[in-house]
Amino acid sequence: MSVLFSPLQQRGLVLRNRIAVSPMCQYSAVDGLPDAWHLVHLGSRAVGGAGLVMTEAAAVSPEGRISPDDAGLWNDAQRDAWAPIAAFLRAQGAAPAIQLAHAGRKASTFAPWRGRGAVPVEAGGWPVVAPSAQAYDAAYPAPVALDADGIAQVIEDFRAAAVRALEAGFEVVEVHAAHGYLLHQFLSPLSNTRNDAWGGGFEGRTRLLLDVVDAVRGVWPERLPLWVRISATDWVDGGWDLDQSIALSRLLAARGVDLVDVSSGGLSPAQRIDAVPDYQVPFAARIRRKAGIATGAVGLITTAAQAERIVADGDADLVLLARELLRDPYFPRRAAQDLGAKIDPPDQYLRAW
Ligand SMILES: Cc1cc2nc3c(=O)[nH]c(=O)nc-3n(C[C@H](O)[C@H](O)[C@H](O)COP(=O)(O)O)c2cc1C
Repeated sequence: MSVLFSPLQQRGLVLRNRIAVSPMCQYSAVDGLPDAWHLVHLGSRAVGGAGLVMTEAAAVSPEGRISPDDAGLWNDAQRDAWAPIAAFLRAQGAAPAIQLAHAGRKASTFAPWRGRGAVPVEAGGWPVVAPSAQAYDAAYPAPVALDADGIAQVIEDFRAAAVRALEAGFEVVEVHAAHGYLLHQFLSPLSNTRNDAWGGGFEGRTRLLLDVVDAVRGVWPERLPLWVRISATDWVDGGWDLDQSIALSRLLAARGVDLVDVSSGGLSPAQRIDAVPDYQVPFAARIRRKAGIATGAVGLITTAAQAERIVADGDADLVLLARELLRDPYFPRRAAQDLGAKIDPPDQYLRAW
């Protein structure tokens, strides 16, 4: 019996298996609106058999976009554009999930295939914000430190986006607090050098994320799961690390977060990562065991046996796959066959099975 292909219950939601599509920016939206590309891209992976399909980082405000081409969820038109996509994912048996994000000092940058670093304001860029006035690196925009009103607005933007996510039909919301974006910038002492209530020690640096989680949980129904993606370590001495991630995860669990999606890095160009298969799995395992919260493992997971082992060993409750699912949207169907499990194809495809 495959554990990877056993259902996972979180609150009132049952995932048909433990394979989730990891969020992946498509840099293909105009005015933050998802379109036919997003429907086909995400829809194919639902048809491919994933238990949960998560959208790319959807910006909670225009200034929170990584690039001018990011998708968003800061207005009703975007909500209405996401709704048929969420409905299609659900009709295919995949839980529709959306990642809510604010890029902070990594905003207003070029989509990867259009350039690197800051998009000038004349070319459609915008002024960016951060906990402290320190750029990611010399090629990135110089941020302005958020004041108390700006911080309150960020919390309100996450709350409002969660309301729209529910109205659009999503069943899981993930707050993006990883990869060096705004909420991670507040967590890490390398990017947060504030000496007010939003900086300093662990309590000050974690405050914004916890306030965002409270605001989102306050509008997200009891019956639906709330996830948070974190970077378990900055991979830089003196930065955010695994011990702080464990302490944070305990606080998240107490505030009604249902799963920590455990990634790493992205905060500092000084990071040194030896990215090999499973390299982030030990972080998910430690957080799961020490903080008593469900975890997702992600990063260079590419085979059925590897994914099965991660879940069977109790290192994570599910796996999130990104690039392998770009290469093969049908990976879950292939993995099921490899592991002797069965997932039903859509009725339209029955004659091939
Ligand atoms: C094209 C692309 C876009 C990505 N966009 C996001 C994103 O929007 N949000 C996020 O948290 N991670 C993003 N990631 C990171 C992935 O979700 C994943 O964590 C990472 O690729 C490692 O998993 P993999 O080895 O299975 O690709 C992106 C990765 C890729 C390849």
